[in-house]
Amino acid sequence: MNVLVTGGAGYIGSHTCVELLNSGYGVIVIDNLCNSNPKSLERVQELTGKSVKFYEGDVRDADLLRKIFAENEISCVIHFAGLKAVGESVAMPWKYYDNNLNSTLVLTKVMEEVGMKNIIFSSSATVYTADNEMPLRESSRTGGCTNPYGWTKYMTEQILSGMSNADKEWGIVLLRYFNPIGAHESGRIGEDPRGIPNNLMPYITQVAIGRREFLSVYGNDYDTHDGTGVRDYIHVVDLAKGHVAAVKYVTQHTGCEVFNLGTGTGYSVLDMVNAFMKVNNVNVPYKIVDRRPGDIATCYADPAKSAEVLGWKAEHNLEDMCRDSWNWQSKNPMGYGE
Ligand code: NAD
Ligand code: UFG
Repeated sequence: MNVLVTGGAGYIGSHTCVELLNSGYGVIVIDNLCNSNPKSLERVQELTGKSVKFYEGDVRDADLLRKIFAENEISCVIHFAGLKAVGESVAMPWKYYDNNLNSTLVLTKVMEEVGMKNIIFSSSATVYTADNEMPLRESSRTGGCTNPYGWTKYMTEQILSGMSNADKEWGIVLLRYFNPIGAHESGRIGEDPRGIPNNLMPYITQVAIGRREFLSVYGNDYDTHDGTGVRDYIHVVDLAKGHVAAVKYVTQHTGCEVFNLGTGTGYSVLDMVNAFMKVNNVNVPYKIVDRRPGDIATCYADPAKSAEVLGWKAEHNLEDMCRDSWNWQSKNPMGYGE
């Protein structure tokens, strides 16, 4: 069975390609490389000993999609392709709405044309409102996003669930990721952010390797056990395996289902820094600075539905995540760019 992976050269996409290939699926990737390096796919092939069919191009290009569907027997699409920098989305809202919404609209239009209606979409815990009780369940309140990136995830969920209501042939899975970190244990693929990292773990690893002087910890006056923000960090390989479980599910069921992909455990910024230093025996200098606008105190998942329905559960712990993040960074100090 072949899976079309949009954005497959990116961080989560490349790890998912490895898990799909290792589970016996054929993998076809479309990526315009706007935030990735084709070396990631070379390394996916090296790790699995299997080939990936790669189309370089934009998911908004309907003719290219038609060509891909004509040339390949595809049973399911995993739609990772999208822009994901929250701050950039505030500065360039049109770019985000255009890329993230039109990619889904063009993709699903072509899927409808060719009669292949199974899709898994990369959503985010950012769709949950800030006033929910923890842990977050799939039924928790959504909306009220604070930036265009979050709105694109929320709106895409609305678009896809509306399509499922209107046409019962669609099989749609919306996966709400919590905070993916870590890398494949080989250290051959991992997260390679362009410019200054926005997210905590790539910033920690770049401080540890000496590319940045210190980590700014955004606030220590939150209502959490040590005052710093708490998140549900999930190993990217566990996340990738969640997609393999979702492919199995979506090719056997119609309708639209939402699943959290998280561990159910929250760690603070200082928990992460301390665990990283201890596991890897490296120093990560940090300074407490003001809160980052838009941040919330605590966010973690209730992953029970994913366990029950998909039969999936995160297996890696905090030590694994810290060790594998550092293994990738220390083996590839400049990411794929060297
Ligand atoms: P990434 O930037 O590493 O991967 C996205 C890939 O999509 C990149 O390779 C990029 O070149 C490609 N792409 C973007 N727009 C495209 C287009 N129009 N046509 C073709 N290719 C295009 O990001 P990631 O961390 O792997 O995230 C994958 C998905 O998961 C994204 O949709 C992201 O919003 C979502 N997500 C990520 C996180 C996270 O923390 N990493 C959390 C929640 C949701
Ligand atoms: N943090 C720091 N210093 C940094 C970076 C982050 O202290 O340099 C803190 C943040 O304040 C927060 C925690 O580390 O408390 C995690 O921050 P990230 O930026 O790594 O992750 P977020 O939870 O803020 O955001 C992530 C994704 C978003 C997504 C959101 C919800 O980056 O795209 O999860 O799913 F929308």
